[in-house]
Amino acid sequence: MHIGFLNPQGNFDSANSHITKHADFGGQLVYVKQVAIAIAQMGHQVDILTRQIIDPEWPEFAEVIDTYPGIDNIRIIRLPAGPKEFLPKELLWPHLVADWIPNILKFYQQQGGLPDAMTAHYGDGGLCGVLIEKETGVPFTFTAHSLGAQKIDQLEATPENLTEIDEQFNFRYRILAERLSMNRSAINITSTRQERFEQYSHRVYRGAVDVNNDNRFAMIPPGADLSIFGAKARSENEEATEEFIQERLVRDIAEARRDLPVILASSRLEPKKNILGLVQAFAMSPTLQERANLMFFWKNWATFTLEVIKRY
Ligand code: F6P
Repeated sequence: MHIGFLNPQGNFDSANSHITKHADFGGQLVYVKQVAIAIAQMGHQVDILTRQIIDPEWPEFAEVIDTYPGIDNIRIIRLPAGPKEFLPKELLWPHLVADWIPNILKFYQQQGGLPDAMTAHYGDGGLCGVLIEKETGVPFTFTAHSLGAQKIDQLEATPENLTEIDEQFNFRYRILAERLSMNRSAINITSTRQERFEQYSHRVYRGAVDVNNDNRFAMIPPGADLSIFGAKARSENEEATEEFIQERLVRDIAEARRDLPVILASSRLEPKKNILGLVQAFAMSPTLQERANLMFFWKNWATFTLEVIKRY
């Protein structure tokens, strides 16, 4: 089979450039890359379709066709969408419709045929899946990764601040794209039951998809990459990191608690990641406190402290 991955945001290259260093280069890209490679290794022909970026600050993403050396059956295809330079995902919407989709269709016309199926990622990829299916009949699956409704809730939107929030995040496009994607997809792929039954049931998606219809959903838990998270995995700066952590444990944790297991959270410092929820859950559970320490990794402790002070 020939399968196209629709993932306009962020980008892909064999060096995993910018992964986890920019908000558009997060877990979604790791997921897409790994699923794409797994499918390619089963013998299918895979194309990861993303945006061409010609920008001195982002030099890795200018070539139209790229590969992962040593891995067969997989191409990274970068096609223009709007201006040449890097754009954050919130600003891609009009360029996807005006340029990216026509460029995808033109590319495959020149190649002699479209993929048999597409798999669309996030609301922006989903919108492209919807429009490509309408134009060509090629079916698509939809993996939302993150739904806009939950982000609106985490940002504590009110009628007073909604316009300001929307100016920054363009939720008016995102929610519409997500509704269309979940409605038109061949199937919606979620990681958990919670995602299907709670997140897709949010009132802003009412009527878009029936969460109780098993034919409309597949739950596929993503799992963990043991080459990174396994007990034997070693990172480039293993010793320095361990030393740093030990130093902090001695500084911040009473001696009697130092050998307890840790509940570890590592993410961007963003309301949507619900770090405050984790702190609250830990603070409210004597059992958790007895059995483990809570540990966070992020770059900017000062911003988090300010956020806590603002709220409480
Ligand atoms: O930060 C990880 C991540 O999963 C990205 O890969 C993904 O694009 C993003 O979160 C979506 O976040 P948001 O809902 O804030 O747009």
